[in-house]
Amino acid sequence: MIRIKNQSDFDNYTKLAKENPEAFWKEATKEFVWKKPWSKLQSGDFNDLDIKWFEDAELNITENCLDRHLKNNANKTAIIYEPNNPHEDPQQITYKQLHENVCKTANMFKDLGIKKGDVICFYMGMVPELLYGVLASARMGAIHSVVFGGFSSKALAERINDCQAKLLVTNDGSNRGNKTIALKQVANDALENTTCVKHLLVHKRTNEEFDKHELDQDWDKLFSKASSDFPAVTMKAEDPLFILYTSGSTGKPKGLMHTTAGYMTYAQYSFDNVFQMQDDSDVFWCTADIGWITGHTYFSYGPLLSGVTQVMFEGVPTWPDGGRFWEVVDKHKVSHFYTAPTAIRALEALDIELVNKHNLSSLKVLGSVGEPINEEAWQWYNKNIGKNNCPIVDTWWQTETGGIMISPLAHITEMKPCYAINPLPGIEPALVDTEGKILEANDVEGNLIIKKPWPGMARTVYGDPERYKSTYFSTYPGFYFTGDGAKRDEKGNYRIIGRVDDVINVSGHRIGTAEVENAINEHESVVESAVVGFPHEIKGQGIYAYVICTSEIKDKDKFKKQITDLVSDEIGRFAKPEKIQIVSGLPKTRSGKIMRRILRKVAEKQTDQLGDTSTLLNPEVVEEIIQGAQ
Ligand code: WT7
Repeated sequence: MIRIKNQSDFDNYTKLAKENPEAFWKEATKEFVWKKPWSKLQSGDFNDLDIKWFEDAELNITENCLDRHLKNNANKTAIIYEPNNPHEDPQQITYKQLHENVCKTANMFKDLGIKKGDVICFYMGMVPELLYGVLASARMGAIHSVVFGGFSSKALAERINDCQAKLLVTNDGSNRGNKTIALKQVANDALENTTCVKHLLVHKRTNEEFDKHELDQDWDKLFSKASSDFPAVTMKAEDPLFILYTSGSTGKPKGLMHTTAGYMTYAQYSFDNVFQMQDDSDVFWCTADIGWITGHTYFSYGPLLSGVTQVMFEGVPTWPDGGRFWEVVDKHKVSHFYTAPTAIRALEALDIELVNKHNLSSLKVLGSVGEPINEEAWQWYNKNIGKNNCPIVDTWWQTETGGIMISPLAHITEMKPCYAINPLPGIEPALVDTEGKILEANDVEGNLIIKKPWPGMARTVYGDPERYKSTYFSTYPGFYFTGDGAKRDEKGNYRIIGRVDDVINVSGHRIGTAEVENAINEHESVVESAVVGFPHEIKGQGIYAYVICTSEIKDKDKFKKQITDLVSDEIGRFAKPEKIQIVSGLPKTRSGKIMRRILRKVAEKQTDQLGDTSTLLNPEVVEEIIQGAQ
C-alpha cells in the first residue's frame, strides 16, 4: 500500500505516478486479496471512453473490507454505532461480527431471489443494517443503489425505474432528532409507480405502525434464519459495484456507475493518505449519510478497507442540542473527524459553550467536504474544534470521481484556509480558459479539468453512455470536465470556487436547476420558471426561483406554499426554493435563451455587475426584476 509519510515521499510518488504508473499502482494494490491479480494496468482514454483499470483481475471488495482483517483483527471494533437518542446505548460491532452480519444479509438477499448483476435499492436511515446491506450486495455481486432518505416517493420511483431495481430495502422509519421520517410510507408510494421491484424488505427501527404492502418481507424474520456462511462471489475488475444518482444541468438525475477494482484501490489509497490514521486506537468519523458518495467512499468502503475503527451516527448535529457532534467526539474519542461546511456554519452560529463543555482533546485531524468552505468557518473550525492543533483537510472531489482528488495530506502538506491545495499523486488536474486552452502559469483562475483517467472515476452514466460523454467529455474534448471553477495561487495551490454549470450546491447537496424548474412548472398557474443559487449563510447556497404565471396571483403566500410543496413532492424537502419571485418575463437572448447570469446577479444582490443588457430580447424586464427582488 502507498503510505506517504512526508513531503519528499509526496514528491517522489507524484513523480512515480506520472513516469511509471504501473509501478505506482502496483504498490498501491499489492496488499489486496485478489482472486486473480492484475497484469494489465489500464486501457481506454477520454476520447474512446472505454476506460478500464486492472482489467484482467478478479476479486471481491468485501474480502478486502472484511475477510482479510479476520486473521489479526477479528475482535477489533469496526463500527461504533451511535444512535439518534443519546440515552440509547451505542453498539460496538467487531470486524468478525460485521463479517457475519454481512454474510447473513447476503444469504437473505439470495433467498429473495437476488443474483449477481441484479440491482438492489436501499432507502434507509443510518442504521447498521444499511451497511450490512450495501456490503452484502457487493459480496454477492449485486449492484447497490442507495437513495438518500430525504428524497420523495416520486424521486425514489424514478431512480428505481432507471436502474430496474429488483429489491427495495427500507426501514419502517428513520430517527432524525425529535422527529421520525416515515420511510416505509414513501417506499409504498414509490411502488405505485414501479413494476420492477419484486420484494420490499423492511427493517424495523422506529417500531411505529406502517401500512402493509403486498411485496413486504420482514428483515428480522429472514435475517434470524439466514446462514452466516456466504463465500464472496468472484467479480471481474470492471464489474459494476454500485450506481449512485446525482443531479446534473438537465432534468433527469444521472446514475453514475462505479466498478470494482479501480474504485476499491482509489478508496483505500485516498483514505490512507489524506487522513493519515496512524495509531491503532485512532477513531474515524465521517458524518455523511450513506446516501451520498462521501458515505460510500469514506464510510462504507475506505475505512473498512484500511481496517480502522469508525463511528456511524444515526442522528443530526443539533439534537438534543447543538453540541451533539462534540459530545460524540468526546464519548468515542474520535481522532479523525470529517464533515461538511454547512454543518460547521450551523454549529458556529450557536453558543460556544456547546463546544467548550466537551473534551475534544482526542482530535488529531479535521476534514471538510462537499462545498467551498468560507474563511470564517475554516478559522472557527481550526480554532474551536481543532484548538489550532489539528490539520484541516479540505477535500475536493465528486460523485463522479469516486474519491478525493485535490486535498492537503494531513500533517504533510501545508495548509492555507479555503484551499484544497494539491492533487493526490496520480491525479493530474489543470485549469483551462473558456476556449479550452490550458493555463500553465500560476496565479490564474479557470475551469477545472482532469487530464488523465484515474482508477476511481465513474465509468459511465448507467443506461446512458451518450450523456456521460456529453456531460463530462464534450466541453473540452480529451479532458474530463468537472463543472467547477478554481484558482491556482502563486505557489500552485488550488482553491475551488464552485460550480460553473447549472447546478446549485445546497448544504453540500447538488441540485440541478432544471429539476427544480420542472417541478415548479407542474403548477397549473406557472408558464415558465428559472432557478438560480444565491449565497446563504448556513447552507452555502439557497434556491431562488423566478416564476412567470398565467394570470395575477391573488394569494401569494398560498401560491408560494403550493410551489414549495410541489418541489418537496417531486424531489424532496431539501430542494425547496427559499425565495420565490413572481415576474412578468425572464431576461432572454435573441435566440430565446434565459440569461441566467443576470438572474444570478440579482439573487446575489450584485445589480451593479449586470453588464450589458441592451442586447437582450426584452431589456425592460430587468428593471422590474431588480425592483421586485427579495
Ligand atoms: C461538487 C460535487 C465530494 C463529496 C460530496 C459532494 C463541490 C465538493 C468540495 C470542496 C469546494 C467542493 C464541487 C463538486 N465540492 N468538495 N472541498 N471544496 N467544493 O459530492 O454531490 O458529487 O458534489 O461538490 O462543486 O463539483 P457531489
